[in-house]
Amino acid sequence: MTKQFPDGFLWGGATAANQFEGGFNEGGRGFATSDTARAVRPEDRKTMGGEFTTPMNREKLNFALNDKEGLYPKRWGSDFYHRYKEDIALYAEMGFKTFRLSIAWPRIFPKGDELEPNEEGLTFYDKVFDELNKYGIEPLVTLSHYEFPIHLVTEYGGWKNRKVVDFFVRYAETVFNRYKGKVKYWLTFNEINILGLTGYLSGGLLFEDGKLHLDEMYQAVHHQFIASALATKAAHEIDPENKVGMMLARMEAYPATCHPDDILNALQKDQSNLFYSDVQVRGEYPRYMNRFFKENNIEIQFEPGDKEILKQHPVDFMSFSYYMTSVTRHPNNMTEEQKATAGNLILGEANPYLEESDWGWEIDPVGLRVTLNKLYDRYQIPLFIVENGLGALDKVEADGSIHDSYRIDYLEKHVKQMYEAIEDGVELMGYTWWGCTDLVSASTSEMSKRYGFVYVDADDEGNGTFDRSRKDSFFYYRDLIASNGANILND
Ligand code: BG6
Repeated sequence: MTKQFPDGFLWGGATAANQFEGGFNEGGRGFATSDTARAVRPEDRKTMGGEFTTPMNREKLNFALNDKEGLYPKRWGSDFYHRYKEDIALYAEMGFKTFRLSIAWPRIFPKGDELEPNEEGLTFYDKVFDELNKYGIEPLVTLSHYEFPIHLVTEYGGWKNRKVVDFFVRYAETVFNRYKGKVKYWLTFNEINILGLTGYLSGGLLFEDGKLHLDEMYQAVHHQFIASALATKAAHEIDPENKVGMMLARMEAYPATCHPDDILNALQKDQSNLFYSDVQVRGEYPRYMNRFFKENNIEIQFEPGDKEILKQHPVDFMSFSYYMTSVTRHPNNMTEEQKATAGNLILGEANPYLEESDWGWEIDPVGLRVTLNKLYDRYQIPLFIVENGLGALDKVEADGSIHDSYRIDYLEKHVKQMYEAIEDGVELMGYTWWGCTDLVSASTSEMSKRYGFVYVDADDEGNGTFDRSRKDSFFYYRDLIASNGANILND
């Protein structure tokens, strides 16, 4: 029997407005947190530094808002704003069934708290969705992906303020009504679980002392849970065809050894990751968090009715990003040196069995099968891999070709494991490769960290023609989609 993916499997690619769209000061768009994310120096790449991971304060924000010298590449992204037709034609050529993009909230509500939306912003996405529909490509739309109207930061303090829930719901209802019949797959918050890292970018949170305050962070998360559940309710009421997903940055935690303390540590790491999907899929806070909240003096303010909102409006499917796995060790089993560095390591301890990318991200295709099985065992609802990919330095040959065999290798290995997981019984809706067209990196704001099948002629400073060209992986992915995986599963 020929092996292939299930009929209707949604192959495609993923992007986000803050890194791809550009046109930051056109079409009436308001200023966003992502517009203030400065490029990280190449020597700091592996720290994932910059505004992405450092708590922001008012002084730094004011500096960025008035800075005329610094490099802020997310303002121009890859210029999808002007080139969407050409980009979508290339996706059609690869045979995409779906394309993930995000709507820039400040394009629809420039300040975030207006009563009426910006018609020019709505029209832009109308044109994008019409273009996708022309080729039969299903849009998969994220409502909030690492960008947030600046006005809601300076005037309201971001997501820690309950009022932001209403603003978000107004925004969500506006786009559900406007794009009814054009879009049916929606994601509310991108990687909702890493608000501790992206507190400023996606949550608009400022911490004057430069330290993350867990109580405020979890209160902001609670507001996002409520906003997401209310948006899910609205999506279903406005169009019963709508399907809404939550989106988790999934990082499978492997214990460093079989020492029971390390196993326990891995379990707790996992719980802190899955807390977010537990709430959004099961509709209630898991009991293991009570202990964590108590021990960290966190008291989440629930308003009357919040519990019911969460319970009555869980998501329809679960989506996640998958780039790597992590290794975790109990402090009791750490050397003094390991203890000293552990707190600073975002990527965790190195796994001796895995290779890493140029940016230090460990490549683990089997981990994807593990994670798919684990998530499906836990939730039993359809899963969707909405990000997976390899950021690498590409070389353009004299004739303009780009031989990215490393990307093809990464893709093939992950797709094969995905197939195995489906055979294991996992219900998987689709797969969207991250950054199908080169775009600005979220964590370092670099262009040279390229994920695309389509190359963009632009450098880290924004110099270049921004013209698009096909890498070797473009043709590879096209053939993979055309055969629904059969071409690599039966060799
Ligand atoms: C995910 C984000 O964390 O990873 C994307 O949802 C991001 O926005 C992607 O671009 C890859 O990360 P980076 O830092 O390599 O761009």
